[in-house]
Amino acid sequence: MVSVVEELVGRRKGYRFLRVRRCDGLKGEVRVSGAKNAALPLLAASLLVERFELENFPVLLDTLYALRILELLGREVELLPGRVSVKGGISSVRIPYEISSLFRGSLLFLGGLLGAVGRAEVAHPGGCAIGSRPIDQHLKFLSHIGAEVELEGGFVKVKLPPEPKARAFTFDLITVTGTENALLTLAGLRGEFELHNAALEPEVLDLVEFLKKLGLEVEVKGRSFLVRSPGRENLKREVSHRTIPDRIEAGTFLVAGALLGEPLTVKGLEVSHLGAVLEKLREAGAEPEVLSPSEVRIRRVERPRALEVQTAPYPGFPTDMQAQFMAMLTLADGVSLIVENIFENRFQHALELARLGASVEVRGKTAIVRGVERLKGAPVNATDLRASAALVLAGLVAEGETVVGKIGHLLRGYEDLDGKLRRLGCDAELF
Ligand code: EPU
Repeated sequence: MVSVVEELVGRRKGYRFLRVRRCDGLKGEVRVSGAKNAALPLLAASLLVERFELENFPVLLDTLYALRILELLGREVELLPGRVSVKGGISSVRIPYEISSLFRGSLLFLGGLLGAVGRAEVAHPGGCAIGSRPIDQHLKFLSHIGAEVELEGGFVKVKLPPEPKARAFTFDLITVTGTENALLTLAGLRGEFELHNAALEPEVLDLVEFLKKLGLEVEVKGRSFLVRSPGRENLKREVSHRTIPDRIEAGTFLVAGALLGEPLTVKGLEVSHLGAVLEKLREAGAEPEVLSPSEVRIRRVERPRALEVQTAPYPGFPTDMQAQFMAMLTLADGVSLIVENIFENRFQHALELARLGASVEVRGKTAIVRGVERLKGAPVNATDLRASAALVLAGLVAEGETVVGKIGHLLRGYEDLDGKLRRLGCDAELF
């Protein structure tokens, strides 16, 4: 029988394109959804408890894939408006290639399974092709604590020892899902552990808050976490949680507002998570007004000022907002420099933006964006998730019609973007 989750996946997979027409202005209010990159580790963490409920749950392809993984592992999933509940036992520890190859977040179930039952077999993950995206740090942590790690037939097979061999680990570089996987694994092991050079993205800290509800103690000092777990058999059995707002969706709408706001109010966000993005919008000449800790109003800028933007781990400027800012800066007055420090292949949207008339030159990890006065609609292809958002933004200001192909990328990470744009007065249609 086809599950509800499979049916929702099938419906989204039926779409190939998003058509947008030049929009005169975005007027009114839009509410951001729960964060994809927070929901994914929380769904992996749901393996640690018997009954789990997540509010503010974003229904999009990546989170539906994650629910499908939970079903394949034997759990019962119930999707209700705005929330999801998961219960039942774990009957398998194997995540097949057909599902793990669909999204990077599948790798988080490695940590979830290890925390919950001490064993996991996960096929190497897929996801956006924005760089080589190795998983060496995830595996280095596991070997360091004495896990048996085997790579066989495209699967990572891991068995945890009853007690960790070491009590501290320092990541060689800052990795978001690497930190999350370590936290999920440690939840199952009794005792104290120090993690150093950890990622501090709000999504990581949201997972920490969830783990505290389960009975872990976690102290965050700079980039170090001191974790104390009571061990998997002493964790709380039933937990509910609310997903934090999606700061990248919020940022995407704020850029849309800087281009077309009449004005646009973005609601349900968390202002404190958007510091670097709001700062850069101000530098570009926009005047985002913080109406409350969860609401920002923004109006269109006559012509954005050129910027220098460097991506960095949180609290720096997010790599997940780089493409959307590039879309805005194609129309800036002057030459902008964008340096992508996180992923080595995350400028593929530059070529697609050029089809709309943008002038972007990529030299290694720097993109030089020479502002033009107007863009013209054209057929383009989404190359990854955030690239697809950038093309939609550019399409909304380009003359005529823009058809964005390979729209599956967008549907992996945005909940109802087309519907939200329509309700703000723009023409956006999936087909
Ligand atoms: N890296 C390694 N070895 C590792 C892990 C990472 O070399 O073992 C490198 C990566 O290749 C990259 C850098 O470290 O150059 C940072 O990667 P990180 O591990 O932090 O990225 P991720 O955990 O795979 C998450 C988000 C991404 C987001 C990045 C950076 C999820 C599911 N994904 O990916 O989100 O761009 O952190 O903030 O949380 C998106 O939503 O569009 C997206 C790509």
